[in-house]
Amino acid sequence: MELKPEILSLLEKLEEKYAATGQDYQSYLEGLLYADFVTYWDYIQTDTLLSLQKPRTNIPDEEIFIMYHQVTELYFKLVLHEMKQIAVKNHLTAEFMTARITRMNRYFETLTRSFAIMIDGMEVEQFLKFRMALLPASGFQSAQYRMIEILATDFIHLVGKDYRDTFGPDASISDMYQKIYWKAGATELATGKKTHTLIQFEQKYSETFIKLAEEFRENNVWRRFESLNSKDEALLQALKEFDLNVNVRWPMVHMKSAARYLKKDPEDIKATGGTNWQKYLSPPVQRRIFYPEIWSDSELESWGRRI
Ligand code: HEM
Repeated sequence: MELKPEILSLLEKLEEKYAATGQDYQSYLEGLLYADFVTYWDYIQTDTLLSLQKPRTNIPDEEIFIMYHQVTELYFKLVLHEMKQIAVKNHLTAEFMTARITRMNRYFETLTRSFAIMIDGMEVEQFLKFRMALLPASGFQSAQYRMIEILATDFIHLVGKDYRDTFGPDASISDMYQKIYWKAGATELATGKKTHTLIQFEQKYSETFIKLAEEFRENNVWRRFESLNSKDEALLQALKEFDLNVNVRWPMVHMKSAARYLKKDPEDIKATGGTNWQKYLSPPVQRRIFYPEIWSDSELESWGRRI
């Protein structure tokens, strides 16, 4: 049988590819004879994915709660994927960066829009019951959420607002980490002591977070933006949107869910692990801002009040 020139050219390229690594391409060709066809279920790992929902109660709405958190964690992973691409890109351009940040914004917009699944999509009575079976776990312990913050900006912007002035430009990450803003969200209302939620979280992740912040100190999203020295309007706009999406819009819809489920009865507060979430979760109070340098004084002044 005569082989078509296209096939011959492909074979030559394959031979070159495998020869470059000292391997025999003919054996790989033979392997193709026996290799199975790819299936959707193997590739997407549907069986594994759908085996990961393990309710702690038999209350039906708990499954919604689990799956929506899992969906969110996947979106967080998508956001981190883009942030890492920005961090390592050689010859970074404003165009490349804008495209990636636009993707990140799209993911967060989807999360903000779909949060109605949490706010309106579960029965309050059911939530208050199954939530008690999940103590002291909290979304507060989402490591990827913290990683997004760490890759987004200079670490000083994650230091509690009352402590920022106490650190100079060369402050070590581990010193600043002692004053990280989120500690304020995990102290007990009654005693002022660290909650067990925070103690567990720190035991598992502090070292990872400090290493990550050190690794991205010079090439987090903000540093990469600065390195471009760009006045590109689309990029600036995309960065502003990202700041609003992560630090105002998502926190606002998230807080709405807390308001729906936890507002009335002091007993309900127990379902949060006893934290002062009303104060802590509110964007104008928390004032977490990744890129204060690109906002005007009046925009900073009214942070979290206009979105
Ligand atoms: C009915 C739904 C939800 C309610 C009532 C709720 C409630 C709360 C509360 C009260 C806090 C403050 C910390 C604490 O007291 O534990 C918190 C923190 C947090 N939750 Fe949720 N949450 C819900 C859904 C979610 C979902 C779906 C995610 C997605 C991963 C999530 C992620 C977070 C994160 C990242 C924090 C820390 C926020 C920060 O430090 O600014 N939550 N949540």
